[in-house]
Amino acid sequence: MKTLDDLLAEGVSGRRVLVRADLNVPLDGDRITDDGRVRASVPTITALTDAGARVVVTAHLGRPKGTPEDKYSLRPVAARLGELLGAEVALAADVVGDSATAVVGALADGQVALLENIRFDPRETSKDAAERGELARELADLVGADGAYVSDGFGVVHRKQASVYDVATLLPHYAGTLVLAEVEVLRRLVTDPRRPYVVVLGGAKVSDKLGVIANLLTKVDRLLIGGGMAYTFLKAQGHEVGGSLLQEDQIERVAGFLKEADERGVELVLPLDVLTTKEFAADAEIQIVATDAIPADRQGLDIGPRTRELFASKVADARTVFWNGPMGVFEFDAFAGGTKAVAQALIDADAFTVVGGGDSAAAVRALGLPEDGFSHISTGGGASLEFLEGKELPGIAVLED
Ligand code: 3PG
Repeated sequence: MKTLDDLLAEGVSGRRVLVRADLNVPLDGDRITDDGRVRASVPTITALTDAGARVVVTAHLGRPKGTPEDKYSLRPVAARLGELLGAEVALAADVVGDSATAVVGALADGQVALLENIRFDPRETSKDAAERGELARELADLVGADGAYVSDGFGVVHRKQASVYDVATLLPHYAGTLVLAEVEVLRRLVTDPRRPYVVVLGGAKVSDKLGVIANLLTKVDRLLIGGGMAYTFLKAQGHEVGGSLLQEDQIERVAGFLKEADERGVELVLPLDVLTTKEFAADAEIQIVATDAIPADRQGLDIGPRTRELFASKVADARTVFWNGPMGVFEFDAFAGGTKAVAQALIDADAFTVVGGGDSAAAVRALGLPEDGFSHISTGGGASLEFLEGKELPGIAVLED
């Protein structure tokens, strides 16, 4: 796999370089509520501009349906990227149309342009390779005959999409620093984790994590399950979960995981107690109850104090820890304690600690925890889980050719 360093060694001054970044950030109106991914894109872009490249960044925001929608415009992202780079980032009003051509054509050496949300073009996510190929060709044409492609949007490398996969087949392609760093960390988890290797999984739906759980059961020493997905495990153990999140259709599969963990000698640890309420609200009245006694009219919204202690003790002697998914509804202060306790346990552990992307990475920042307290905070939620699941990621595989 060629890397950004190889491209820099070849020389990029005056050349146009297309960079696929993952700038898919949470927004509140026009305000970016967590700019982690924008910050993570800076090192590769700066290395290129410092070397005199004309950088054309392409990225998506949210899941628009293949047509422009103002609420998915990359406008706030262009502004934030400009602030972080200390230089204006020109935003094209379209993806590969007249505006993109003009904005890219006007770039001087060392300048940066951002194309409008790539998912405004339906060909980006098309299942039809020929359609994706057309868009990829138009992207490649924007950077011209001596152009190059740098893949740096780790959070999206599990998507076989025009700007992630197809365009790499048309241009000389290189892995950016973020993609390289992420892959190196995740390879370490799958190939040679120091033991005990402990994984903490949370988040709402167990159905999103079936593949990764199946794979992790063959690799880890301990698997700690919290968050909404824990209730399907508790139900599979025969407990009633009241009005808590439950995926009835997954109970059988989850029962299979419990059995497999037992057979393999993997310690599968579930919550002992939870914070329950009668309604889903930030200021609801809270009762702490044992997980074998959740009343029918209450729902669990966070792991309880005994569970926090238990989980912390199971992380304390680990040498490798991977954590993905919040332990509760951390967006409400009253139910952020479990997620905070797990994050703190990782910070305290004398271990190689990796935070999976998405909500858990956002939670670390939203809860004001020190980012440098972890060995690595991934920018990719789905991508890091698919990597750990052992799947081939199209956006990585294409860089190997
Ligand atoms: C993410 O937010 O995980 C990435 O940006 C990928 O987004 P997607 O799930 O909409 O493809």
